[in-house]
Amino acid sequence: MKILSGTSNQRLSKDISKQLKLKLINTNIKRFADGEIYIEINENIRGNSVFVIQSTSTPANDNLMELLLCIDALRRSSAKNITAVIPYFGYARQDRKVAPRTSISAKVVSNLITNAGANRIVTVDLHAGQIQGFFDIPVDNLFTTPLFARYIKRKFKTKNLVCVSPDVGGVQRTRGLATKIKADLAIIDKRRPEPGKSEVMNIIGDVKGKNCIIVDDIIDSGGTIINAVEALKKEGAIDVFVFITHAVLSGEAVDKIKKSKIKKLIITDTIDNTLKIKNNSKIEVISIAPLMAEAINRISNSTSVSDLFN
Ligand code: R5P
Repeated sequence: MKILSGTSNQRLSKDISKQLKLKLINTNIKRFADGEIYIEINENIRGNSVFVIQSTSTPANDNLMELLLCIDALRRSSAKNITAVIPYFGYARQDRKVAPRTSISAKVVSNLITNAGANRIVTVDLHAGQIQGFFDIPVDNLFTTPLFARYIKRKFKTKNLVCVSPDVGGVQRTRGLATKIKADLAIIDKRRPEPGKSEVMNIIGDVKGKNCIIVDDIIDSGGTIINAVEALKKEGAIDVFVFITHAVLSGEAVDKIKKSKIKKLIITDTIDNTLKIKNNSKIEVISIAPLMAEAINRISNSTSVSDLFN
């Protein structure tokens, strides 16, 4: 087995390879003056099982293209099989036709990755589980729930906890966490009047006098979470902690979080935000590297990945 890192999250790739006690494949990935991408693999990988690690985070199109070219280079170098490890799968939110004449971008991206030559996908907290069906190759979707549950059990002494889903789409994920930490469940009825804007309509469940744990797959502009925190506080919640897998943190999100009533935002490193969140004591990062390394190990040894979550 060998590991190849794209350039979107080299920190995470290094951490994963360290866990696996493997060196990253020696590559030359650069941009031509016009922005085109050049990939060269500087070592023999003939007959190897290769895991390419690349989040398709911002700049999403460049990082996606880089992933496709890495897969193509590996295929043309006679790798035995190629697993695309995509910690953050960009375009996953466009998973259906939201209006009569829109594209289903997640499906287009899935086709591109398969056609480039990937034999398997590994990703984390896919925005919608059904995206697995957009691929005709195996997809291992890893979950952060056990990671978050362990953190909460270690750090939160209070029993007065309620897990809150910031929208109806996140109920299954939130219920999973609530069950693991033996907390109550509440649901926010969120409405999106237009893309990028969100409004809280109702809170279903009892949050008065409780410490709330919001859990979501993505924080992007921060609108969903900040509105949810405001609404929970208005309903009498004590402190609100937020657990997010993919910290997209676009635009002014980091500043908005700093000024918000969020007690603490806990994110993972599926996207490298080291510079963005520097000196921000409100945001803490839990690494996904040990979980990803273990999943890669299990795939390589043909042992169960789902057992990791039982
Ligand atoms: C939506 O369904 C996702 O789970 C997130 O809640 C959403 O993408 C967050 O976006 P924003 O931070 O821009 O409100």
